[in-house]
Amino acid sequence: MRQLQLVAHGEPSDVIELRTVPDPALGPEDVLISMEAAPLNPSDFLFVRGMYGVRPAFPSSVGAEGVGRVAKIGSKVDVALRGKRVLILPTYEQGTWADQVVAPVRNLVPMSDEADPLQLSMIGINPVTAYLLLNRYVSLMPDDWIGQTAANAAMGQYIIALAKLAGVKTLNVVRREEAAEQVRQWGGDRVVLQGDNLHMDIEEALDGKKLSLVLDTVGGTPVGELAKSLKPGGSIVVYGLQSGQFPAMPPKEFVYRGLSLHGFWLINWIRNAPGTEIEEIYQKLGDLVADGSLSAAVEHVYPLDQFKEAFKQSLKSHRAGKILFKFGTGGSTLASR
Ligand SMILES: NC(=O)c1ccc[n+]([C@@H]2O[C@H](COP(=O)([O-])OP(=O)(O)OC[C@H]3O[C@@H](n4cnc5c(N)ncnc54)[C@H](OP(=O)(O)O)[C@@H]3O)[C@@H](O)[C@H]2O)c1
Repeated sequence: MRQLQLVAHGEPSDVIELRTVPDPALGPEDVLISMEAAPLNPSDFLFVRGMYGVRPAFPSSVGAEGVGRVAKIGSKVDVALRGKRVLILPTYEQGTWADQVVAPVRNLVPMSDEADPLQLSMIGINPVTAYLLLNRYVSLMPDDWIGQTAANAAMGQYIIALAKLAGVKTLNVVRREEAAEQVRQWGGDRVVLQGDNLHMDIEEALDGKKLSLVLDTVGGTPVGELAKSLKPGGSIVVYGLQSGQFPAMPPKEFVYRGLSLHGFWLINWIRNAPGTEIEEIYQKLGDLVADGSLSAAVEHVYPLDQFKEAFKQSLKSHRAGKILFKFGTGGSTLASR
């Protein structure tokens, strides 16, 4: 089988090679999955550069999540799983950027045959993170407001969709006008451009309302400007640091209004939550993908052998959507958004 392998930490195109490896033997609780699709996420590139919370031994398979069909099963695996479509969870025990993947059955969740495999391949990381961010920190009620940074990211799109399903309103910060338009089309209730008067622009957009929750993946100043519009006792959850800067909190607001700052990493939840909770939440998200309530914009899909081009496109700023590997299809395809 063909697999992308990480041979050292560094720039993705310098340290990842496409290699043909013999099919590994299946353990009794393993399955062999023929991959359908696997996205390229910012966390994959942190992993490749040695900046992620999980460090591999080299050479390592790579790619955290994806979807495929069970082609072979180990001796103790339920035969009903044969031929089924499964989601591979981001446990970092297997790499998904490969034609075929061997994974223990505990790392898999069965998925619908009906839904778009590209969309299903992305629910292992972002939608579940969006779901947990919206449900774990404050008890949001219909008509409550939340604020978020990098709202045009796939994460932003999922947060908007899940908030909408709960009747919660979103105040969305982006760094360019094109992205603002995209977020409006996704149903973001208010969209504000990152700029010198960010706090005033946020207050104007909220028109007297206050935020119950701020979700941040940028760091630096925008999150602090959003925090100034939180209700007393409100929560800020930092789940990424795209700018490389730690969130700049407004000290007075933070102390006198009793704000709370939390950090979130999905892998802690996957490692610690009961298996039944994990399966239930992923299946709920899979159903939302199947009925069209949940999706992320896709800019381009690539076959595995065009991995260098896929990396280049995925590492570009100002993309219109995610970049994915699509398996078993031959040439590069422009996907629908
Ligand atoms: N903690 C967790 O467990 C967890 C789980 C899921 C995701 N995440 C994090 O969530 C973030 C979004 O992931 P994704 O897959 O949704 O990303 P994505 O679709 O690839 O989009 C990346 C986003 O980041 C924005 N961005 C990049 N650098 C920026 C900067 N310096 N200032 C402001 N915005 C910047 C981009 O804006 P432009 O379009 O303007 O370039 C774009 O909106 C990543 O940091 C990821 O690691 C964390």
